[in-house]
Amino acid sequence: MPLPKVFMTQKIQEAGMSILKDKVDITLWSDEGRPDPRTVKRDLPHAEGLIMTMGIPMDREFFKRAAKLRVASLYSVGYDNVDIAAATESGVMVTNTPGVLTDATADTALMLMLMAARKARENERIMREGGWTHWSPNQFVGKDLFGSVLGIVGFGEIGRAVAKRALGFGMKIIYTGRTRKPEYEEKLCAEYLPLDELLRRSDFVSLNCALTKETTGLIGERELRMMKKDAVLINTARGAVVDQRALYSACSEGWIWGAGLDVYEKEPVPMDEPLLGLENVVMMPHIGSAAVSSREGMARLAAQNLVEAIEGRIPPNLVNPDVLKRI
Ligand code: DGY
Repeated sequence: MPLPKVFMTQKIQEAGMSILKDKVDITLWSDEGRPDPRTVKRDLPHAEGLIMTMGIPMDREFFKRAAKLRVASLYSVGYDNVDIAAATESGVMVTNTPGVLTDATADTALMLMLMAARKARENERIMREGGWTHWSPNQFVGKDLFGSVLGIVGFGEIGRAVAKRALGFGMKIIYTGRTRKPEYEEKLCAEYLPLDELLRRSDFVSLNCALTKETTGLIGERELRMMKKDAVLINTARGAVVDQRALYSACSEGWIWGAGLDVYEKEPVPMDEPLLGLENVVMMPHIGSAAVSSREGMARLAAQNLVEAIEGRIPPNLVNPDVLKRI
């Protein structure tokens, strides 16, 4: 019996490749870079399974073309690039990789917070340029995390992991989200507030919500103007949660202190992006999960999900359980 045909956008860690070995017939679309869209288009009708790394939109047209597809296993926790309704209608199981990147993403949020607060970009540049000529009480001075208020937007696993770390830094936690989560409030000393109130009271705002219709453009000019003048905005969620043009105005015109970003409206960020010119904006290339154990965990989960589905079982991280009624 020939093995089920599976296509993979880019090579994943051995932890995942070894699970797939001898179970499926894998074709790699690309080792490292972005796969050629023409190749993807050509191969899609033959795919029974897919392992998809970030960046390829999977819309209705995509699923229509993938006529034999049974499972699209995402190498990510976010699935905002997938038309879930279309996948379900086409009888395609969609899976993701929750849990394994929670800590790495929360670490990234704290890193961005510290870098923006302590002016890491500017101070490092000055030092490398020879501007550190004397010690001064007033030079290189940033903001404290200690004693400040952190507002977390989205109190899911990652938001709560950010809260846990922030408590260690002596921050006070307030949060908002679709639903109040009283079960975590005592443990994380966290207070629930509506978004506007949270924005007014926070010294740091960390975005940790999923990208949905409701959260697209959640932070725009109105919200940025509500924030304190010395507040910092951190985004490790998805770029489209923030109106990037409004954020540029906020950071360049002093509505807020600055920002720490790991995600953008357009990725990779084009070199003419105005935010690149601002020293009070720390920018990372979507590295939230880019730590060894996270990436290995993502590879393992993506492979396990794919094998379970392809062998006719319900994969552990099925995003669209309604599909089970159709297959
Ligand atoms: C995810 O998994 O959704 C992350 O953004 C990728 O690291």
